[in-house]
Amino acid sequence: MGHFFMSRTNKIIEDHKVIEVLNPSPGNYFLTLQSPVEIPAILPGNFAEIKVPDAPDVFLRRPFSILDVDYKNRLIRFYVKVIGKGTKKLGELNVGDQVSMIYPLGNSYTLPQPGHKALIVGGGSGIAPFILLGKALIKNSNEVTFLIGGRSKQDVLLINELSSYGAVLITTEDGSLGERGLVTEHSVFRPDKFKFDKIYTCGPDPMMKAVGDLATAAGIDCEASLENMMACGFGICLCCITPTQEGNKRVCWDGPVFNVNYLKWHS
Ligand code: FES
Repeated sequence: MGHFFMSRTNKIIEDHKVIEVLNPSPGNYFLTLQSPVEIPAILPGNFAEIKVPDAPDVFLRRPFSILDVDYKNRLIRFYVKVIGKGTKKLGELNVGDQVSMIYPLGNSYTLPQPGHKALIVGGGSGIAPFILLGKALIKNSNEVTFLIGGRSKQDVLLINELSSYGAVLITTEDGSLGERGLVTEHSVFRPDKFKFDKIYTCGPDPMMKAVGDLATAAGIDCEASLENMMACGFGICLCCITPTQEGNKRVCWDGPVFNVNYLKWHS
């Protein structure tokens, strides 16, 4: 498996000011927050634990992949998909509100050799790490292709931003945008087109498992960023464990990024 760089130092634990709340489609929000202090280096795959304001009945903090960073203006951006009470509260934030956050947490995706071709596959809130990953791959002289899936075209977000870093392929289950079907049914997986050196994936478990299986069958290295339920985010509560070749690992502490061959997804 690849060597994962652990960003365990230079954490920020601060209240951040809400600068912008965008609602591109029902249940989807982009939050931009401003840090009161300089933002440390953020790697693709790193996440933040965000405290849900005024919500004593939900987990104290919730994990969100970091979508993008503007170091100069101390801005950090998140994609929040509403899936329950906590995420609903975050979508209801107003400009000027203060939000407590801890970051950067977790490891990051590893980069292939310069010149290698990468395919990045995701759906739902799993697309959140892809902007930072696309930026890092372009800087590393890699050719990038994104494949994004959703139920309908309103679920497929960030197309314009991602297209700055590579080609964007799309599937929707209702056929309203791109090819009809699941991401794993896209024609890019046909043997004559499935020619990549590295696959990255983030999204629902069944999707990542299917992408991992396709990559493994084709002999292509594949890393997945897991979205297990997390509570503490610091390796203490053990609620986020996943079985691996070396026993149970904590997604928040040892991950969230794992090589798919290291995971024991099918046993
Ligand atoms: S969230 Fe507590 S150990 Fe991972």
